[in-house]
Amino acid sequence: MDFALSPEHDLVRETARKFADQEIVPGLRERDREHVSDASQLKKMAAAGLLGVSIPAKYDGMDTDYVSLGIVCEELERGDTSARVVMSVHSGLHSLTVLQWGTAEQKQRWLPSLATGQAVGGFALTEPNAGSDAVNIKTRAERSGDEYVLNGQKTWISLADYADRFLVVAVTDPNAKSKANGLTAFIVERDRPGFSSRAIKGKLGVRAGNTGEIFFDNLRVPAENRLGDEGDGFRVAMSALDHGRYTVASGAVGIVTACLEASVKYCHDRKVGGEEIGKKQLVQQMIAKMVASRDIGRLLYYKVGWMKNTGQRHTREVSLAKWQNCNAAFESANDAIEIHGAYGFCDEFPVERHFRNSRGAVIYEGTREIHTLMQAEYELGYREDRPLKHTLPTWPFGPEV
Ligand code: CAA
Repeated sequence: MDFALSPEHDLVRETARKFADQEIVPGLRERDREHVSDASQLKKMAAAGLLGVSIPAKYDGMDTDYVSLGIVCEELERGDTSARVVMSVHSGLHSLTVLQWGTAEQKQRWLPSLATGQAVGGFALTEPNAGSDAVNIKTRAERSGDEYVLNGQKTWISLADYADRFLVVAVTDPNAKSKANGLTAFIVERDRPGFSSRAIKGKLGVRAGNTGEIFFDNLRVPAENRLGDEGDGFRVAMSALDHGRYTVASGAVGIVTACLEASVKYCHDRKVGGEEIGKKQLVQQMIAKMVASRDIGRLLYYKVGWMKNTGQRHTREVSLAKWQNCNAAFESANDAIEIHGAYGFCDEFPVERHFRNSRGAVIYEGTREIHTLMQAEYELGYREDRPLKHTLPTWPFGPEV
């Protein structure tokens, strides 16, 4: 068993960390206070090559492995969750799913612009009345000749106002015996007539990021925009979530790291009775817990990255990593506030923002309740991961990718 990361991984970490420190963190407190997302960051991320991480060179990507995607997410979220969300949606939920499910023609058509950031990808599954219960979405896609006509509404869509195209899941057969078999996935461009979006205001966290609703009003997409076969939509969505949850799990480690670094610094700076508060055993207990969360969190996501590299199905493992790491990030941020005392309760220090941001990830991409149930079901033998119809290409990428 080899636990070593490669020099390429170190370079990826350094690049992403530098990007977060130089491009994400400056001005962040104001953007977060004002609920302003900075659209120019997408272009900067593209210029730094971040949007092409884990996409084969054949499609103008960086050709790095899947562990690299996790490392980028960890480092970006150490800066701010809004930057990691871009990777989750564009790279995890959208680009990797096109790589997994696209035909040769579709991959050639869509991936180069995604990998270079000329186009930004989004993901649209959730609806006002279907979150965890994803199979019960209502957005309708009706076949009409060589096209499908979409009508419906999606909510809690990251980059709703910015993404150029969305992976949309809709109902094509409302009478299917199994509801999952009645869903189909499409790539929908935002410049199609009948598309509109609206930002969601007043969020607890990820305030420097764009989240919204999108609407389809008799929107027509050609049949060649269908990803997978008719009836594959639920499986496409669930495999997208295998990638999205990976980015959320790895990003959560970035929150733990940021809280740990801020807390260690504060422990040295803040003195009680002439002594650093780091000398206090109850404070040390919280620091030690964060150290464990960081190291366990990395092991969990590195393993999933390795499973992606080697072409193994990892739905159970990524669910576990997402569940554990998001809980750990929330607890770490809570402890970091405790360590900072009253200063942790305002935005003079970043831990308050990490606390609010970490709460969202406990909910999105599978609530903690969904992951708890999944883990119990695997253990009890009620759920098992069978081989998939389409898998991600293994890494190193071959010419046939
Ligand atoms: N990859 C491919 N196929 C998969 C799959 C995967 N990971 N997981 C399941 N499938 C397939 C199964 O093999 C099965 O197909 P067959 O019938 O051919 O075997 C089919 O899909 C149905 O699977 P299940 O029986 O496992 O489905 P279920 O009904 O038991 O799933 C559930 C229930 C696990 C709760 C699932 O509905 C779920 O994960 N819900 C949570 C949805 C979620 O995470 N939503 C977040 C949306 S995104 C978001 O939050 C927005 C954002 O990012 C900002």
